[in-house]
Amino acid sequence: MKDIQIGIIGGAGGIGRWFGDLFRTEGYVVHASGRTSGLSLSEMAAICSVVIIGVPINATGDVIRQVGPCMRSDCLLMDLTSLKEEPVRDMLACSASEVIGCHPLFGPDVPSLAGQNVVICPARGSRWLRWLTELLEGKGGRIVLSTPQHHDEMMAAIQALIHINTIALGLTLRKTGLNPEELDRFSTPVFRTRMQHLEKVFEVNPGLYADIIVKNKKSRSIINRYKDTVDTLMEMVVKGDRAGLIGWMETDRKE
Ligand SMILES: NC(=O)c1ccc[n+]([C@@H]2O[C@H](COP(=O)([O-])OP(=O)(O)OC[C@H]3O[C@@H](n4cnc5c(N)ncnc54)[C@H](OP(=O)(O)O)[C@@H]3O)[C@@H](O)[C@H]2O)c1
Repeated sequence: MKDIQIGIIGGAGGIGRWFGDLFRTEGYVVHASGRTSGLSLSEMAAICSVVIIGVPINATGDVIRQVGPCMRSDCLLMDLTSLKEEPVRDMLACSASEVIGCHPLFGPDVPSLAGQNVVICPARGSRWLRWLTELLEGKGGRIVLSTPQHHDEMMAAIQALIHINTIALGLTLRKTGLNPEELDRFSTPVFRTRMQHLEKVFEVNPGLYADIIVKNKKSRSIINRYKDTVDTLMEMVVKGDRAGLIGWMETDRKE
């Protein structure tokens, strides 16, 4: 298997580059491409047995529609997108190859795969599925098998809810007009930890977080619940309802 070549579309970017490095350390030849660099999509499909898509979420559908028809049936088309329903459906519709939806549940800042969760949505074929799971598990990764639908449902809670909360926090702090240096001078350890996450969301890759929230259809209902929760909390604050607030935190029965 080591003689196969792997192509990563988006392989010079964050998570694509990370996976490229992983495959290279395993002894594979890896080709990375971007919009203006590396092999064309048809060249990549012609020489690579495994083609991996690691481009921004809003570009994924177009890339699948371009590369999918070029894939041979004995090859693997796989994506790394943070959402799974739409990309897996598109990969199946546009190709005759084996198809796997993959979502690494970590960012390119982690030093190794050891102990990290990787969601795998098997979609078509089993040969490459075995190769991939053995490789990832061999590097210490924890495989989480899922359907695309269940994955997106889980990501509405794990990612969309958390990130909307962080964005709301950042925008609210900005609205207060408080000076960041002054906030830092008065900060607690919890506040500083939250600020580190906030900086990542606002500065490193805001497009990724916007896509994770907006493009997941399952995120709407959980964000609505979050909004209702904040409204109820506000009512308690206005009423000075300390006992009610404690009671709500202590029981999960009250809506
Ligand atoms: N970053 C994370 O923490 C993380 C974790 C898990 C999954 N993911 C998923 O991985 C994917 C990539 O995210 P990322 O954060 O790694 O993005 P990124 O850092 O912005 O990198 C994206 C790469 O895609 C290339 N690219 C952009 N548009 C393209 C197009 N139309 N055709 C071909 N190449 C294109 C870019 O290269 P050029 O500018 O040279 O075109 C760049 O190298 C997303 O689907 C995301 O949901 C990300």
